[in-house]
Amino acid sequence: MAGFVERNARKEVFSLKPYVPGKPIEEVERELGLKDIVKMASNENPLGPSPRAKEAVINVVEDLNIYPDSNCFYLKKKLAEKFGCSQDCFMIGNGSDELLRLITETFVQPSDEVIYGDPSFSEYEFMTRIMGGMVKPVPLQDFTYDLQAMKAAVTENTKIIYVCNPNNPTGTVVTRQQLERFMDGLDEDILVIFDEAYYEYVDDPGFQSGLEYLDRGYNVIVLRTFSKIYGLAGLRIGYGISTPEIVAAVNRVREPFNVNLVAQKAAVAALEDEEHLTRSREINRQGKEYLYRELQAIGLRYVPTQANFIFLDTGLDCRRVFQGLLMQGVITRTGDIFGYPTYIRVTIGTDEQNLRFISSLKRVLEG
Ligand SMILES: Cc1ncc(COP(=O)(O)O)c(C=O)c1O
Repeated sequence: MAGFVERNARKEVFSLKPYVPGKPIEEVERELGLKDIVKMASNENPLGPSPRAKEAVINVVEDLNIYPDSNCFYLKKKLAEKFGCSQDCFMIGNGSDELLRLITETFVQPSDEVIYGDPSFSEYEFMTRIMGGMVKPVPLQDFTYDLQAMKAAVTENTKIIYVCNPNNPTGTVVTRQQLERFMDGLDEDILVIFDEAYYEYVDDPGFQSGLEYLDRGYNVIVLRTFSKIYGLAGLRIGYGISTPEIVAAVNRVREPFNVNLVAQKAAVAALEDEEHLTRSREINRQGKEYLYRELQAIGLRYVPTQANFIFLDTGLDCRRVFQGLLMQGVITRTGDIFGYPTYIRVTIGTDEQNLRFISSLKRVLEG
């Protein structure tokens, strides 16, 4: 006879594949007895948080007995100044992950279809399945979102389309022209979600943010996060920008204290530190150039990136390469989970980390 869970849990639970996170440093230390490990697996900022954010965290310690502001007033105020729109255009979440969940809970009903590129950020599939929606992954073309094919996949049941721009795990962006053609004539009852978690790293002049469509009156949501360039992944905080109507609807399904006090204070301080942002961007640009040069010298193919990670073809079984790197204390991500069994994804690190990655990779490739 079936067990308790099988008899009683919602059927959607059985369709879920658990998220595969980057291996934590402590786990590698425990399992392999290694020290001095570098994590280049989760696209975090290798410089850490801004000094201003750290100071804000220290200063808030005395107030930890107080509930956080449910409305995130000061953060919304800061964001409203930054983007030049009203505070009711912002939704704040416990990471943009939570916003993906809240948006899905607000809009997706069983049998609604959700379209996204494949491979892309795994949470689009996960959240859709939890709500009993139908997933419609559309293969990338040249490692890039194929917006024409995605538009062709639209049916009368399509509820949400995700555009991960730049895309995780490939680091590619869609061009302004591709976006224009895609948005033109799209059914206005389809919610387009631009996931721009890596927006701050983009330097391609052909890039266009989803904010453009918000300005033009479309029903879209643009998601950004403090986990990447702002270096606050451990605090869990991200935000979405949309129409006040959509924000108010998503707000209905939110827990009252979804964003903690420390995260709110740190995020406000991080937004005030342009210098840290510029430095982080510059370190990433230099690291990217160094890694490109070294990979070319080794003779490995990689996907040119607009983000803070590189998707590269090792030509070998990625699990073996991953393990070989791990034994030398370098944590990366395997491409097999994205359907590329010889690829790995590596986060661009500091000069020292990049050097360490390249020398470790050479040793693995030499066998
Ligand atoms: C494309 C993309 N969107 C969203 C997220 C989630 O970010 P957060 O830490 O804000 O939940 C990530 C994190 O890896 C990501 O790569």
